Amino acid sequence: MTAIQLDVERSADVNVDGYHEFKLGEFGFRRDEFFVYITWPTGSHMMSADAFLRALQRDVAWDFFYGTVNFDGVFGTVNHYGTVDIFAGRFNDSYRKAELDYSENHETPRIRETFKSILDDWTNQSFDPFASPHETGSAFGLKNGNNTEAVTRERVTANRMVGLRGDQQPRTDEMGFPVNRMFADVDQTEPVVEAEPGFEDEVAAFSLFAYLSRSNVTWNPSVVSVCKDSLACPTTEEYILPIIHGNDRVEWFIQLSDEITWEVEDRDTGAVRSRVVMKAGDVCAMPADIRHQGYSPKRSMLLVWENNSEKIPEAIAAGRAPTYPVEF
Ligand code: PHB
Ligand code: FE
Repeated sequence: MTAIQLDVERSADVNVDGYHEFKLGEFGFRRDEFFVYITWPTGSHMMSADAFLRALQRDVAWDFFYGTVNFDGVFGTVNHYGTVDIFAGRFNDSYRKAELDYSENHETPRIRETFKSILDDWTNQSFDPFASPHETGSAFGLKNGNNTEAVTRERVTANRMVGLRGDQQPRTDEMGFPVNRMFADVDQTEPVVEAEPGFEDEVAAFSLFAYLSRSNVTWNPSVVSVCKDSLACPTTEEYILPIIHGNDRVEWFIQLSDEITWEVEDRDTGAVRSRVVMKAGDVCAMPADIRHQGYSPKRSMLLVWENNSEKIPEAIAAGRAPTYPVEF
């Protein structure tokens, strides 16, 4: 292994399938035509290349997200907002009981650069890890080009709200965001805003349904409005959320269209806690001590409401704040 980039340990040569191998601490990563192989001092693991890349894409684009990003029941990351744990078997009862779980803590820039390099090297030109399986080619096969433009997409975040002057704007055909095939029936009319003179910069409105109907990615919440720590993060979903998200705070879901089934498990052991079927108009809160994965049979619109306060994870972990949002 030679370091060819700041802090990224990448093999000088490619393997027989054309892919580089990577190391981060004691973790090793390699891929072949179908699979990704992860090794660490007490074990090893295999994942389908497409599932791995879809999960890796989210972990990179969301900069390790809130709390835990489980790529599957074995491998993943925990965000400590400055440093990140990379783990194997840590949230898996069997690995824990057998004392085979393993975890390392790294400075965020180091793991970020390593993960970005793996994502770029292992994503072929035919594959877009953010796209619905219906709207992308294959992740599999021998190394074949790359798709750097897709894997380096910036997460869309409004400063205040979509539509305000100087902020993110509603999506249009001209901007390269046609209405998605599954949302052809969504009304594209935008609200008319007549601001009093002097208030043009302060008043705006946009159609969230039209905005979401033009999203070209799936399972990728974007921030459309910000009020202090309150973030409205809507997203369009199709097929399966590529990560199992372990919460470090409560999050609210509002199902804006169609239907998503959520598998909810205990965050630490993976024991099944519930299945939540959300139909259009349903609202639910995901507690702070669970992990969850969504299944969306048709492309659907979901509003994720996040509290971005950095104080919350610590308050919950210390028992000063509850793991659930309301007492009825
Ligand atoms: C979540 O983990 O809460 C989550 C992540 C991505 C989505 C929706 C929900 O698209
Ligand atoms: Fe979540």
